[in-house]
Amino acid sequence: MKKSLWQKDIDKNKYKILNKNVSTDVLIIGGGITGLTTAYNLIGNNHSVVILEADRFLCGATCKSTGKLTYLQDLKYQDIYNVYDFNTAKLYYEAQKDAIKLVKKIIKENNIHCDFSRSDSITYTTKKEEIPKFDKERKMLDKLGVKYYTTYTTTDFKNDDIKDLIMVKNTYVFNPVKYLKGILDVLKKHNNFELYEKSRVCKIKKEADYYIAYANDCEIKTKKIVVSCHYPFFTIPGFIPFKTYIEKSYINATEVSKTKSYNAITSNYPVISFRYHKDNDNCYFIYLNNSSKLCDKLNYKRNYDECLNAAKLITGKTPNYVWTNMDVMTNDFIPLIGKVSDDEKNVFIATGYNTWGMTNGTIAGKILADLVNCKKNKYINVFNPSRNINAKNIKNLISNTLFSNVKAYTFNLIKKNPTWYKNKARVIKSNGKRVGIYIDNEKNNHVVSNICPHLKCFLTFNEVDKTWDCPCHGSRFDIDGNVIKGPSCYNIKIDEPKI
Ligand code: FES
Repeated sequence: MKKSLWQKDIDKNKYKILNKNVSTDVLIIGGGITGLTTAYNLIGNNHSVVILEADRFLCGATCKSTGKLTYLQDLKYQDIYNVYDFNTAKLYYEAQKDAIKLVKKIIKENNIHCDFSRSDSITYTTKKEEIPKFDKERKMLDKLGVKYYTTYTTTDFKNDDIKDLIMVKNTYVFNPVKYLKGILDVLKKHNNFELYEKSRVCKIKKEADYYIAYANDCEIKTKKIVVSCHYPFFTIPGFIPFKTYIEKSYINATEVSKTKSYNAITSNYPVISFRYHKDNDNCYFIYLNNSSKLCDKLNYKRNYDECLNAAKLITGKTPNYVWTNMDVMTNDFIPLIGKVSDDEKNVFIATGYNTWGMTNGTIAGKILADLVNCKKNKYINVFNPSRNINAKNIKNLISNTLFSNVKAYTFNLIKKNPTWYKNKARVIKSNGKRVGIYIDNEKNNHVVSNICPHLKCFLTFNEVDKTWDCPCHGSRFDIDGNVIKGPSCYNIKIDEPKI
């Protein structure tokens, strides 16, 4: 698996692995920015809190982020306005600003060294036909009272290529892993917090007035549950697979001689997003491209090469780090944060950050902690996961969610043995079942089921990472069938078939 730039800063300390039954007031599933910010906001409330991370702490979605903390998020405000109204767009804007304030406060209160620095944010386009959208976004920003600029001088842009841009100040970048390491250090000092890693929750059962969650063959008895694991592993309640779709992108980081204090993103597909980063030792140029729906662009090797080559063209160097990222997207551009359904008053989720995970994960941590404490929060309604589907986003729901899933399913049904596998991997039928086989350099067969345990999509072989990947909702498995990324929580191991 390729490593992200932040991975070098991951906590060397290992945490306990759950190996006994426990009882707690609050169970937090997922130890990324959402789970840890929720826990941080619960300090001082006297709850007992158990945090379970499926992988190692800080190795999940947060570690794949580009680490931007900005309220200028491509052309987000008009997108939200087009589906809802100005007030909803305003609340979303205020939530992003509050999230940035909260990160600053946490850093200051705990003296966290996480390379936090100011970085102007730019949305730009290289396409003339996008200009009317920029005019509309400027009108939205005027109404929101946001000060913005329409020019920016940098040698990174060829000015002739830029057809329009919006720039705002008072936005930031940071190292998300160092930041969360700081929060983990705070949590470790509190006796009422228990942290476990390599402890994947696979099932939740409701009892009279409590829940039992299961991980590593152990039971966790709890009154309230916060599901903050990027993408919930269950379908009911919440029906998240029917409200979201996944986008995948390729990111790289290249050592450069100096940094610049701005970050940028294009408003149009294919999305390009970049920023600079400086840590104690080096300066980096971080570059994201090839963003697409998970079911599109399934030629992993070609995507990877394109990502490397694009960065090489800009910096003249081969990137030092290359990694992939998956984002959960919603059809109405607003994350799903809050009670998982109206019937489940004590199960809370947070997902669907639409590529803006650092601010949305932070504000989710505040909203979820307030919900656990039965406190008011002005953002509860706007992010409510059970909000009604509005006629204006039905079109998005059909084209994004339904069409993506059908496409992913049928593509793999037809294309069992794509030529890019280069005969290292193939899919066959054995006793009526689809089986994936990878042949390693020593000519050993690694045999797995080709069906994703989550919602039964067919898996594709990822030649770059040597994994079996699900094009529907992003589960991933190693060549021996061990699940390495959810929502599936089950392996795909099987006995070797007779061929
Ligand atoms: Fe949902 Fe595979 S079917 S992740």
